[in-house]
This record gives sequence, C-alpha cells and structure tokens, in this order.
Amino acid sequence: MYYKKLKDFPKDFLWGASTSAYQVEGAWNEDGKGLSTQDMLTPPENTTDFKVASDHYHRMKEDVQLFAEMGLKAYRFSIAWSRILPEGRGKINQKGIDFYNRLIDELLKYNIQPIVTMFHFDLPWSLAKEGGWINRSIIEDFKDYAKILFENFGDRVKYWLTINEQNMMVLAGNLLGTKTSKNLQETYQQNHHMLLAQAEVMRLCHEMLLDAQIGPAPNISPVYPATNKPEDMLAAENWAALRNWLYLDACVKGIYNSTAWAFLEEKKILPNMEKGDLHILKAGKPDFIAFNYYNSTTVSASLPDDSVKYDKYDKKKMISEPGVYEVVENSNLPKTPFNWEIDPVGFRIILRQLYDRYHLPLLITENGIGLYDELDEDGKINDDIRIDFYQQHIMEMQKAMTDGVEVLGYNPWSAIDLISTHEGFRKRYGFIYVNRKEFDLLDMNRIPKKSFYWYQKLIRENKVPGKIVV
Ligand code: BG6
Repeated sequence: MYYKKLKDFPKDFLWGASTSAYQVEGAWNEDGKGLSTQDMLTPPENTTDFKVASDHYHRMKEDVQLFAEMGLKAYRFSIAWSRILPEGRGKINQKGIDFYNRLIDELLKYNIQPIVTMFHFDLPWSLAKEGGWINRSIIEDFKDYAKILFENFGDRVKYWLTINEQNMMVLAGNLLGTKTSKNLQETYQQNHHMLLAQAEVMRLCHEMLLDAQIGPAPNISPVYPATNKPEDMLAAENWAALRNWLYLDACVKGIYNSTAWAFLEEKKILPNMEKGDLHILKAGKPDFIAFNYYNSTTVSASLPDDSVKYDKYDKKKMISEPGVYEVVENSNLPKTPFNWEIDPVGFRIILRQLYDRYHLPLLITENGIGLYDELDEDGKINDDIRIDFYQQHIMEMQKAMTDGVEVLGYNPWSAIDLISTHEGFRKRYGFIYVNRKEFDLLDMNRIPKKSFYWYQKLIRENKVPGKIVV
C-alpha cells in the first residue's frame, strides 16, 4: 500500500541501540565473575576470543556518556548470568550486582531507559557442564536468577527480555557456541525447558513488578516461497513454523504450533512433557514481542531424498530439511560484505505478520549490518552503507506503523563495536568505533562513526533524515 504521508513516530518512541554482555564487556574473569560457555569456546581460526571484547566493563561511564550524546532514549544490554551467580546458582556475586547497578544508574542519569536481556547466549559453565537446558531443574535456576534480577534492578528497569534468540540457539547452536545437546531430541527437550522457564519468569515478573513489562526476544524472519508453485508456498509455511511460530506460539498463546509439532513427531524428536506443562506455558504472558531482524529467508519445496545443504559459515541460512523445505538464495536482494541478504521491505512484512498474528506491541531489539569499517586518513569512519541500511529499514518500519502496527521502539545492533558471535571483531556493527584489531588491542579509543551523527539527528528530530520514499 502506498501512502501520501506516513504517520509520525510517537513522542515517547524508544530510539535505542543494543549490545550483549559477553560480546562487549570483556573482564571475563574479574570481580568474581564465573565462567560461561562463551569463555570456554575455542574461537574459529584467526578470530579473537571474548576475553577483552570492547572493554566496556572498565569503560562503562565513557560509553554511556557517548550513548547520551548520540541521544539514545533506550539501551538494550544483557546481564551476564555468571557475573551475578558465578556457579549459575547459589552464592550471589555482589560485585556483579554492583556493576549493573552502576550501569543502570548511569543510564537513568541521562534519561536512557534500560532494556535488560536476562540471558544472551552465555550460560554459566557450571550449568552447561551438567547438560545446560537439558535438566529440568534449570527452570528453577533460571527463576531464581530472575528473582535476583527483579529484586535488585526491578525498581528501575521497566523493560525485561527473557531469552535472546532461543530459536537460533536451537537451530544454529553449534555456530553460536551454545550447543550442549547430543542429538536433536535433546535439543528440542532443551527448547521445551527454555519455553517453560520463560513462561515462569514472565509470570514472576508480573507478580513481583507491577509496572514492568516483559517479553521474549527471538530472531524473526519472513519466509518467502522461491516461486508461485503451491509446493514452494507450503515449504515456506513449514520453515516459518519451525523457525518463527514454534517459539512465539508457545510464548504468546501457550501452545505448540501444530506444523512444528507434526515435524517433531515425524522425526521422533518430540520433547517429553510433564503433566501441567501446557498450563505453565499458558500462565506466562508477554506484554510485548521483542524481536531481532536481519534478513528474510527464501525456500523452495524439497523431496525426502534431497541432499542436505548446509553452509556452516552462515548462521542465517540454516540447515535445509529434506522433505520439508530447502533454503535458496533470493536473487532480488543485495548482500552485505558478509553475505547476508538485505531486505528492508521484509522488515515491514514481518512487522505486519507479527502484529496481525499476536496483536501485541512490538519492540525491535536488533537490526543492523556488519561491515569491515576502517579508519580513513583523517581518523574518521564514513559508514555510508550502514546509514543507507538504517535509512531504508527505519522507513519500512514507519510504513508498517502507518499500516497500523504498534511499535514501541527500535534498538539496532549495535550501540558500539563488539565481537560478532563467530566472525570476530573485524565484523563491526557499532555506531561507535572501537580502536582495536582482531588480536592487537591498540588503545581501545572510542570514535563516533558517521552513522552516529546520522542517528543522533534522527533521534533529535524524531524523523528519518532526508527524503521519505512512500
Ligand atoms: C544476533 C545476536 O543473532 O545477531 C547477536 O543476538 C549477534 O548476538 C547478531 O551478534 C549479529 O550476528 P553475528 O553473527 O554477525 O554476530
């Protein structure tokens, strides 16, 4: 639909930016922090580990000051479970609590709303050693951890996110360094426990914090059929059920998506359910759906004896499932230097699909482009490609809002350069450049990129700079 004029962004729109603890903080073994799965990884060849990252733990005040200068109204970050509970349960590490208290207070000093993710890929190692999410007892562990967060930070944090990209941990856990299962049945058993833990924690949040809101944060993508063949459309629906709706139907409606369930049954990988589990799922209600959007996916039909194609270097492509769907390239879409398809219109499409399906407000918790940013001779970063990416995506979001979709805020990835999940520091996402190389830490100075000033102007004026293409 074309409009003569797009709706304005609401005055209280949460223009923000995003990070996660293990990708930005560093200080991996300081002030009593316990080990996490990410600390125990062997990074891919020529790729840094997460030990120092962007050293945000030590430079937090300077970073928040820059976020304030950029004009952020919100900052979405994650709490490292192993900083709060070094062993995953039991003894609390007061220094961990102190760090996040300082961060939250510093943000509020500049009127930046903290949006807190409780778990972003970094499970405490002691829990992972026991099998991680495979043990049903981890549901209690996650609840206890959540209670500590609500008790300590709930007076100031009004937006909570349960689990970052639970669907990606299930579908690409090997690339994310989160995999602790031995087979697919175990993976979906772990998924079931995460769904239960999430539901319990959403319920707890509503019990403990009357004016806070909580929601999930999956990675959601519209799925296109490769052609107008009905079989391709069916394959697209299969993949959408397995990558998107399985997670959100369980979170919002408290039910297992029937197509996804049929797939699990056919593959003999159904999770074991206990009496009362569906009741637990139904009892936890999100206030909004937060989601990360990077790109769309295109699939074609697949026959049961087709071979499995798997690009192990790209977590966005995923595994094709013979007899269910086959992921294909979309020749209509340009790509980032890291080979991810760029699809701003897909962003509008998925915003509409999500809102129509669940009728809950939406919060964008990630969207962005990884680039090989380099300082020029004047010591500047002219990241026009990033500006163009954001310009197009924000315009499509505004169109979706004009279509009637309720969006609470937009928190692109990432506020500042940090380490990619599996492609190192060379893949930069930030509005702020961090002066380090893959292995050489240099001086770690912070340098605002051109996109920093572009986003600053957008937030100040509460509108997309330049000509709006309706
Ligand atoms: C999201 C994750 O999937 O994508 C982030 O929540 C991640 O942790 C981001 O960094 C970008 O992906 P990548 O693989 O380029 O780091």
